[in-house]
Amino acid sequence: MSSLKHFLDIHRLDTLTLREILDLSVKLKRQQAAGKSKPLFAGKTLVMIFEKPSTRTRVSFQVGMQQLGGQVVVMSEGESQLGRGETVADTARVLSRYADAIMIRTDDPAKLDDLEAYATVPVINGLTDLSHPCQIMADIMTFEEHRGPIEGRAVAWSGDGNNVANSWIHAAVRFGFSLRIACPDGLRPSGQILDWAKAEGGDVSVTEDAVEAVTGADLVNADTWVSMGDADADKRIKLLEPYRVDSALMAKAKGDALFMHCLPAHRGEEVTDEVIDGPNSVIWDEAENRLHAQKGILAWCLG
Ligand code: CP
Ligand code: NVA
Repeated sequence: MSSLKHFLDIHRLDTLTLREILDLSVKLKRQQAAGKSKPLFAGKTLVMIFEKPSTRTRVSFQVGMQQLGGQVVVMSEGESQLGRGETVADTARVLSRYADAIMIRTDDPAKLDDLEAYATVPVINGLTDLSHPCQIMADIMTFEEHRGPIEGRAVAWSGDGNNVANSWIHAAVRFGFSLRIACPDGLRPSGQILDWAKAEGGDVSVTEDAVEAVTGADLVNADTWVSMGDADADKRIKLLEPYRVDSALMAKAKGDALFMHCLPAHRGEEVTDEVIDGPNSVIWDEAENRLHAQKGILAWCLG
């Protein structure tokens, strides 16, 4: 088995390791704020492959590497030989000769598996159609900054059972909180991931009733109803109408419940302005923590 420290999915790491990464993230955030960052990544290069658009992931990884003395190369599908049919396996072998770590944002999780199999440097999952683990590390960090340990708390998700929801399921098991997902029957999270959570003894439930999921929650999450690559926008928007997080739904959560959204948001669709700009929303801290959480991930991967 490879001894490389890949960051592929939350459930592929144990709780101690995930906690170690979060502790590193908090430490690096404090050092940055105090102007005491060390050139931890001096001489190191991260290559980022983007087969889908990105604002936060791209900029936060780049700024994070640079703040700690490292370099970044960004490759997009259309501008590289990947777009002309060179395999992920061959790309992985070549990039491993130049770079110290590879981050990929892609559609098919099988491409992530190929990178893992053929790269000889750590690989980081920057989102696939199946999961978005970097996001959830930043989200847990944000929750804990505002409300203390997430263990034993109740987290609600209202909307599409998408890649971000899947990573929340992984996190519920590893970090020991309860997760209630409200979504239409046709848009449930991955059955395989739900089965895994059940087998692990996780406290994860799925309902079609948004009020049921949100009632008494410590944290309410929303995400876009139409993810990158989804073709059936009109159908989804119709199905997801009852899952919009508005003030009435938010009022069912605990009085001090936080609201989070990984962004980009479609205001008026999955969330109203009143909620996303309201006093319970921590979306800007959440977005900022992508930077710090990914520094922690990189520091762990690069040793
Ligand atoms: N939340 C998130 O991953 O944002 P980007 O798509 O802008 O990277
Ligand atoms: N579910 C969204 C997340 C974007 C960061 C998507 O995949 O488009």
